[in-house]
Amino acid sequence: MNPQEFLERVRSLSGEALPALSGASSRVSLEEARVRYLGTKGAVGELSKQMGKLDKAFRPEAGKALNALREAAASAHAEALSRLSAEPEAGQAVDVTLPGRRVPLGHTHLISRTSREICSIFERMGLTVTEGPEVETDYYNFEALNFPKDHPSRDMQQTLFLEDGLLLRTHTSCVQIRTMERTRPPVWIVVPGKTYRRDDDLTHSPMFNQVEGLVVDKGITMADLKGMLAEFAREFFSRSAKIRLRPSFFPFTEPSAEVDVACVSCGGKGCRICKGTGWLEVLGCGMVDPALYSYVGYDPDEVSGFAFGIGVDRMAMLKYRLDNIGRFYSGDTRSMRQFPG
Ligand code: PHE
Repeated sequence: MNPQEFLERVRSLSGEALPALSGASSRVSLEEARVRYLGTKGAVGELSKQMGKLDKAFRPEAGKALNALREAAASAHAEALSRLSAEPEAGQAVDVTLPGRRVPLGHTHLISRTSREICSIFERMGLTVTEGPEVETDYYNFEALNFPKDHPSRDMQQTLFLEDGLLLRTHTSCVQIRTMERTRPPVWIVVPGKTYRRDDDLTHSPMFNQVEGLVVDKGITMADLKGMLAEFAREFFSRSAKIRLRPSFFPFTEPSAEVDVACVSCGGKGCRICKGTGWLEVLGCGMVDPALYSYVGYDPDEVSGFAFGIGVDRMAMLKYRLDNIGRFYSGDTRSMRQFPG
């Protein structure tokens, strides 16, 4: 074979093999083309055997031409393979007889559900849901709620302080001031929301949830407060739920109380859940301190009111018998998935 003849064979093989490889319409025909041209007994291999019959001087040039063809054919094959792999093979493209894949449907998180349930109980008693910002000023979180600067009652609520006197609110009580500032009495509101404190253990999370209540109207007394909370406990836990009020202190209520419910686990006899006391602390409350009215321009001789703050996480833990607040906020959803609601 003379050099011209050899190069002519390389050229015509290239004109045949490259379109056959890159134009293959299925993985089967691509594989056939690969075997035909690049396989051990393929056309390219056969041609390279002819090299021995060539003039020694011409062999390097012939080898170069053949290698170029081999590389071009290999890359045409690789491209065609990746194009065809992205497509389903004909005949098995879509099996319409297979059952559909179920799209996993989420459900409301237990905290949202509990918060909504608490709010709806109070809505049925005539309160309206309202909200406020999670990033607050010192004024709404502390000052207008009658926390004097440097007062030790601020220590219980250490939180994340941001720049320019801003902070993450430590309670939803800020919304008491924000609402009274922009509305005239009567005020009957219930306020769900996230709150933040420097706390972290089995029953405390640095971010947690509260529902605040505020009722300011003519002639509101502590009996109204106690009646509303007792009915709330019966609606939320069970008709036989009992509450008790213990004296406490909050700068923005006077008098103030902590509310306990008779242990939902043992009914008051004493058990592990209530640490043998028979009672579980669930919320803080009290009569609105008249000092607040001076910040919002209400007349303390005209109106009186009460407020309460419920820990949503705690209520949910009691109702659904969870022992670790971290279950609400963990990326492991197994605990939460038990409560599709
Ligand atoms: N803000 C209080 C707390 O987070 C709870 C509270 C609200 C107490 C309203 C009295 C009245 O601890």
